[in-house]
Amino acid sequence: MSGTLKTVAEAAPNIAFVKYWGKRDPGLNLPVADSVSVCLDRFHTQVELSESESSSGDEVWWNDAPLGPPHFSRFARIFKWVRERTGLDFPVATRITTSLPARVGLAGSAAAMAATARAVAALHGMEPSERELSALARLGSGSASRSVPDGFVRWNCGSLTDGSDSFAKSVAPAGHWPELAIVVVMLDTRAKGVSSTKGMARCAQSAPGFDSWVAQCNRLAGKAVKAIGDRNFRELAKISRTSAMAMHALCLQAHPPILYVTSQTVLALELVADLSARLPLFHTLDAGPNPILFTLDEHVDEVVDAMTKLLPDARILKCKPGPGVRVVSSEQ
Ligand code: DP6
Repeated sequence: MSGTLKTVAEAAPNIAFVKYWGKRDPGLNLPVADSVSVCLDRFHTQVELSESESSSGDEVWWNDAPLGPPHFSRFARIFKWVRERTGLDFPVATRITTSLPARVGLAGSAAAMAATARAVAALHGMEPSERELSALARLGSGSASRSVPDGFVRWNCGSLTDGSDSFAKSVAPAGHWPELAIVVVMLDTRAKGVSSTKGMARCAQSAPGFDSWVAQCNRLAGKAVKAIGDRNFRELAKISRTSAMAMHALCLQAHPPILYVTSQTVLALELVADLSARLPLFHTLDAGPNPILFTLDEHVDEVVDAMTKLLPDARILKCKPGPGVRVVSSEQ
C-alpha cells in the first residue's frame, strides 16, 4: 500500500438554491443542468478509511451498520476510480459517522461521498485538485460534488461524455455573507419512499415539463451566482423558491406522481409565507418533507420561535454557511 495507514476526512451537507434534478448520464451522475448551493457549517460527516483486514474485500459501515447493495456500489465507483489511477489495489474499510439521517432529503449522502472521495484519495497517496475531487465525489452521488468546495458553490453540468468538465466550484467563500442564517426544519426523519435517483429518472421519462425545467435551471443558476455575489437576499429568495417549487411541481407531473411533502410541510410553508411578508425569509425543499429556511441573523430567533410554536415536535437547527471537505488526520 501507499504508506498511509488511516485517513479521516469530513464534509458537510450542502443545500441547493438551484436544484439538480435530472441526469444526462446516470452511470457517472452527470446532470442535465447547472445547480447552485451552499455548504452547511453543521452535520459534519466523518469518514475513516483504512486498509481492510477482512478477506472479503471492501467494507462500508454507516454508523456501525454494514452497508449493502445498492448503496455500497456508489462507494465502489469511487474506489475503482482511485485504484485505476494509482495502480494500488488493497481492500479498504470505510467507517462513516454522521448525525444526519440517511435518505430523508437532507443531503446526508452528499457529505458522506465527498468525505469518502477525499479520504480514499489521501489513503492512496493522491493529491487531487479540487476539480478532480469534486468530479470523484460526483461518482458516488451527484450533489456530493458540491460538498467539496468551500461556501457557495456552482456545479457546472459540463458537456464531455467522460464527465471531466462536470465539477463544482466555489463562487464565494463561506464567510462571504456573514449575516445569512440557515434553519433546518426536521419534520420527518424516516427514509423517503422514492429516492432522488429514482425520482429524477421518473421525472425525465414521464413529466411533460422536463425540457423547460432544464432550461430554467441553467437560467436560474447564472442569476443565483449573481444574487450571491451581490448578497441580494430578495433575488436569491425568488430564485430559490422558484427552483424548489418547480422541482416539486415536476415530481407531481410524473407518472406515477411523486409527493415528497406532508401536511406538516404545508403548515411550515404557510408560516414561512406569512412571516416573509414582514421579514427576510425564504425556503427551499429537497426531495423530502423537511424545509430549509434562509433568513438573516437578526431574525433567526423569531423564525425559530414561530416554527417551534407551530410544530413543537419538529427538530429545528440553526446553521451558517460552511467550508468544503477536509482531511482531519492521516496516519502513516
Ligand atoms: C433534491 O445527489 O442525492 O437534493 O446523484 O442520484 O445520488 P444522486 O442524487 P442526489 O440528488 C439530490 C437532489 C436534491 C437537489 C439538489 O441537492 O440539488
